[in-house]
Amino acid sequence: MSLLFRAVDGVCGYGLTAIVSAVNFELCAGEFVILEGANGSGKSTIIRTILGTQVSLGGSFTWNIPQEKIGVVPQDLPIDQSLPVTALDLVLTAFLSGGKAVRSQAMLALEQVGMESLAHRRFGELSGGQRRRVLFARALATDPACLILDEPTVNMDAETELALGELLHRMVTVEQKCVLATSHVTAWMNGSRVLRVEGGTVHG
Ligand SMILES: Nc1ncnc2c1ncn2[C@@H]1O[C@H](COP(=O)(O)OP(=O)(O)OP(=O)(O)O)[C@@H](O)[C@H]1O
Ligand SMILES: [Mg+2]
Repeated sequence: MSLLFRAVDGVCGYGLTAIVSAVNFELCAGEFVILEGANGSGKSTIIRTILGTQVSLGGSFTWNIPQEKIGVVPQDLPIDQSLPVTALDLVLTAFLSGGKAVRSQAMLALEQVGMESLAHRRFGELSGGQRRRVLFARALATDPACLILDEPTVNMDAETELALGELLHRMVTVEQKCVLATSHVTAWMNGSRVLRVEGGTVHG
């Protein structure tokens, strides 16, 4: 299995405060990894450090793939909902260029999450679960080698949750993608490697 990412003796936190230490794990192609742990245990902090949006306080966090090969669904919706952008516009922001091919790739991603019929609806007018599905499509659209998902199923109904879990497991087994997700969905854990964040470190 090809190695995509490795954390060695990583320390994640804010300022002088370490939240999680001795972070040691790898992500490989064809792996579904779930990061679980109580609220406030440090899951999002680890994700932000892996992505480089939060500086690490120690150790090393090394990617073997370029940033554009990483698809992300953040925990907090980073979009001003009063903006006059459609669901499709939002997915298109994943690309650095425009054009017909990119548009059809974006539409395909919306189809994968069952949102194609609402592609031209204003993002701010969608329900919470629908908005999250659009963000999911945005992460899928560029055909990333690794998907990093922070609580991606918040606001989703059970059926969508299961469907997306199946889509992700398929991407992992058939296309050899890597998925790292923080999630409490038990159905997603079947066939996944579970890393538990507890007591200021990562177990498993
Ligand atoms: N920007 C920040 N500055 C300082 N401390 C922070 C910041 N963000 C989070 N923390 C603290 O870091 C700890 C871990 O937070 P984090 O958001 O990583 O937890 P989590 O495991 O993702 O929780 P949840 O399940 O609620 O999403 C918490 O004690 C939190 O208060
Ligand atoms: Mg979190």
